[in-house]
Amino acid sequence: MLLNASGCLDASTAPDVARSLDAFVTKTVTPLPREGNPPVRIAETEVGMVNSIGLANPGLEAFLADHVPRLAELGVPLWVSVGGFSADEYAASCAALDARAAVTTLELNLSCPNVDEAPESAAQIVAACRAATTKPLYAKLAATGDLAELARAVADAGADGLSLVNTLRGLTLDERSLRPPLARGVGGLSGPALKPVSLAAVWVCRRATALPIVGMGGVASGRDALELLAVGAHAVALGTVLFADPHAPARVRAELAAELSAHGFAAPADAVGAAHDRVLAASV
Ligand SMILES: Cc1cc2nc3c(=O)[nH]c(=O)nc-3n(C[C@H](O)[C@H](O)[C@H](O)COP(=O)(O)O)c2cc1C
Repeated sequence: MLLNASGCLDASTAPDVARSLDAFVTKTVTPLPREGNPPVRIAETEVGMVNSIGLANPGLEAFLADHVPRLAELGVPLWVSVGGFSADEYAASCAALDARAAVTTLELNLSCPNVDEAPESAAQIVAACRAATTKPLYAKLAATGDLAELARAVADAGADGLSLVNTLRGLTLDERSLRPPLARGVGGLSGPALKPVSLAAVWVCRRATALPIVGMGGVASGRDALELLAVGAHAVALGTVLFADPHAPARVRAELAAELSAHGFAAPADAVGAAHDRVLAASV
């Protein structure tokens, strides 16, 4: 199953690309509209990019009125990424989205490095949202802290799945001025540098919980997607690669099919967790 990573694909400008996915994930929506952080908000590094978009979005009301009906027309399952600054805000958004048949899954963005965090823990936010909706809830986490413990905590709180990983704090300097190009200095690092991080996060969470996992972070090829499946992801999302190659979904699908057959897997599901099985097999 191939998705886009939240914030990395605009379905209104690239509807065909969005339609080619198994589910479209929206940019994170917050209760009130947000301008986001001041420009410059995106910069390249040798190993990916840093962004400090700061959750720019139209706010829940406009999102429900204008965006959901248009996104429903894509004809692919619609995942809405939900953000907020308190557990109550997250829960209120989930309750409003719960009433929308077009929305299939809610992904809770519990890990944006570019805005202040809610005072409650990730597990408390998931528990509040669980009480507000019957739709599947995915907890999106960053690879910080004790991820195994966090994964178990959000699973106990009622999460149905994990989205791993969000960006990590990163900074780059302009070659000549030696100043950070991003107005906020520090941003979220994404792209190739994140691949070993996302592999480790999925590996750890696969061992810690039985939750299905959407793996993302540095995926640019079918080989990258295969590796995420092998460490335990059930689905894979494309993020930064879409900025350089908007047609990456078709390419990654074709490459993944070739990788799967080269490794003797009849279907993507057969590759899920294969790396764990191989470690086990080697140790007996
Ligand atoms: C420009 C940009 C905007 C993003 N916006 C969001 C967002 O709104 N919500 C979210 O959960 N993640 C957001 N992300 C993080 C991605 O969804 C993804 O977790 C991360 O970029 C790692 O995947 P990648 O290395 O394939 O890009 C954003 C990433 C980028 C590069």
